[in-house]
Amino acid sequence: MRRKFVCGNWKMFKTGSEGADLVRELRQRVSTQAQIAVAPPFTALESVKQALAGASIQLFAQNCHFEKQGAFTGEVSAPMLKALGCDGVILGHSERRQHFGETDETVNKRLKAALEAQLHPIVCIGETLAEREANRTWEVVSRQIRGAFAGLDAATIARTTLAYEPVWAIGTGKTATTAQAQEVHAQIRGLLRELAGQAGADAIRIQYGGSVKPENAAELMAQPDVDGALVGGASLKADDFARIIAGAR
Ligand code: PGA
Repeated sequence: MRRKFVCGNWKMFKTGSEGADLVRELRQRVSTQAQIAVAPPFTALESVKQALAGASIQLFAQNCHFEKQGAFTGEVSAPMLKALGCDGVILGHSERRQHFGETDETVNKRLKAALEAQLHPIVCIGETLAEREANRTWEVVSRQIRGAFAGLDAATIARTTLAYEPVWAIGTGKTATTAQAQEVHAQIRGLLRELAGQAGADAIRIQYGGSVKPENAAELMAQPDVDGALVGGASLKADDFARIIAGAR
């Protein structure tokens, strides 16, 4: 039985003090067996970490560079995030692929760096609306997964989490139906059997992301291959995020 995993992706929202306020409210409201994380912007990591002291909520970053250090103005490395107290990092989010030139190859390099730094990675994958309408969903998603995991052995792949986020569902209010989500998640599980073996495929959590709300979270996460959620907009309000978490059973 996989432990459900719900992560809040704050994107470019919340200053340090706003983020600390949010998690102070959240920690009062959350009591769950599920794994819970928040991913604030880099500038809020330190104050959110302090506000989370003693809580079981984990701290994730939203990206990391693939080199440990160097002349990469504006970038932050995986060991730096680890030293700050981060537990994990989101990688390959569609907004990074769309706006910042992220490719399967750079996701692969960042993933290797995150794993080497002992950060738990959430690797995001998902098709655009045009790709779905052209019946290319599986071609795109499977290419992204194979690309992200290139050169990794089964045991290493088993240390990751995937987040299936159809791009057309992100921030649009258009959630995939439970059937649409489960269909792709089951296909992903099948590919994981090939890449990570049966035990790895059974262990890896596959989150769903894209307009997850308190109203649809429990039903989505009740699907056999939906092991949690990556939540954007609704993770910015303690009440909404706490209600989503309550749906992770
Ligand atoms: P959303 O974003 O919940 O606001 O649709 C999800 C994400 O981008 O991770």
